[in-house]
Amino acid sequence: MPKVILAIDQGTTGTTVAMMDTGGNLLASVNREFPQRYPKPGWVEHNPEDIWMSVLKGIRGIFKRGSAKPADVIAIGITNQRETALLWDTDSGSSLNNAIVWQCRRTTEFCDNLKRSGAEGLVRQKTGLVLDPYFSASKYRWLLDNTPGIKSKVRKGRVAAGTIDSFLVWQLTAGEQHVTDVSNASRTSLMDIDRGDWDEDLGALFGVPLSILPEIAPSSGVLGHTRSVPGLPDGIPIAGMAGDQQSALFGQACFHTGEAKCTFGTGSFILTNTGKQRIQSKAGLLTTVAWQLKTGGPLYYALEGGAFVCGAAVQWLRDELQIIRNAADIEVLAGTVSDSNGVEFVPALTGLGAPHWDPDARGLLCGLTRGSNRGHIARATLDAMALQNADILIAMERDLGKRLKPIRVDGGASANQLLMQLQADYMGRKIIRPKVVETTVAGACFLAGLGVGVWNSTADITRSWQIDREFKVGLSAAGRRERLASWQRAIARARTGEG
Ligand code: G3P
Repeated sequence: MPKVILAIDQGTTGTTVAMMDTGGNLLASVNREFPQRYPKPGWVEHNPEDIWMSVLKGIRGIFKRGSAKPADVIAIGITNQRETALLWDTDSGSSLNNAIVWQCRRTTEFCDNLKRSGAEGLVRQKTGLVLDPYFSASKYRWLLDNTPGIKSKVRKGRVAAGTIDSFLVWQLTAGEQHVTDVSNASRTSLMDIDRGDWDEDLGALFGVPLSILPEIAPSSGVLGHTRSVPGLPDGIPIAGMAGDQQSALFGQACFHTGEAKCTFGTGSFILTNTGKQRIQSKAGLLTTVAWQLKTGGPLYYALEGGAFVCGAAVQWLRDELQIIRNAADIEVLAGTVSDSNGVEFVPALTGLGAPHWDPDARGLLCGLTRGSNRGHIARATLDAMALQNADILIAMERDLGKRLKPIRVDGGASANQLLMQLQADYMGRKIIRPKVVETTVAGACFLAGLGVGVWNSTADITRSWQIDREFKVGLSAAGRRERLASWQRAIARARTGEG
């Protein structure tokens, strides 16, 4: 029986477990959704127990689907929704509260106060991030302020803090390892991204004791072994770990400076590999650590722009407006019209991310007339998904001072041909879709495989990346300018104080 690598992709709305053979072929994957919790407007939580159960169900499911057995697994790679933060008790292993999800806006006021105190410069310079409730530090602070009895537990050394990656490693190793990887750590606002280490000044600024944070490890290399995991033998090396967007960049084989990918998930995220050079954005983007491939090895960086709501907008049409039954139906419905007929949908359902950074912005549907129908709303949604990425690409090229190569796309919605054509049209750039669009799990498998010596270099991995289809620009420059201008007017209306 062939040996396989298992990837666990713990995403915002579900967990995907996938297996890859040592030839770099994805053999099977299963997805298990889990409940989203919205206790107040703008708040988003996950129950860590739900997350862990979805992982265990995924592990069970993959061995029913795939031909390999648990004993065939030679390494595990973890990738995950980033920034989502939680605390757990190191004695019992139980979580002390629900995880605060990256989309949650509850710490907006706290971040605004820090901004007013003039702290943003320090945060930008050390972390490459903006000061926004999106990142983990203010979430940890909220949990520390709002969990009964937490201060004495912290004093007794009984509290572990972590993003989802470290929570999963803790669970998979029965509490033996409290570790995160450098790409996930770079999303907390607590790591100095030049040094790749937690920073005392940032800990003090956010009021988070560094003693409760995990150890920072490279993204590839053995960082623990399975112990007492239902459905898996003990002793499997956990050998790769990265935030989901960095993992997708790796899975897209974007190993050279200037190579970029756009992932269509709950949100959409464009990352450009900037190599060993850290580029400080002037256009509202983030500098983030892409990966570090071995202890003491160089840190590789990426420039990132993310829109918080992408696939989540389609879910909203399905679950709240109920104008489609399945997410995939949007392509057919949007295809019933030739354009949005003046309808604009700004899906700022959890505020606006890059390049606007307006946590108080709210969603907006405008330009409606008596002739507007479901098709126009569906088309306006696909337009919005593509237009927000076009905005990010413009900001990215401004920062980099050059035109990027064709953009590689992946994620669930990259299967939507109409959306991909709109993306090429609104970016004014060729779009390349690879054969494997599950690049997030592929990236985690590759990182783990490198970590145990299945592959020796990124060049080995590049060979398994192949093009499925290219989408060429089909809109004139004038048409594109007109479409972007209408979108910008709608964005201005969705922003705080301008609606
Ligand atoms: O930064 C948030 C991101 O990691 C979430 O990704 O795939 O769950 O939308 P996804």
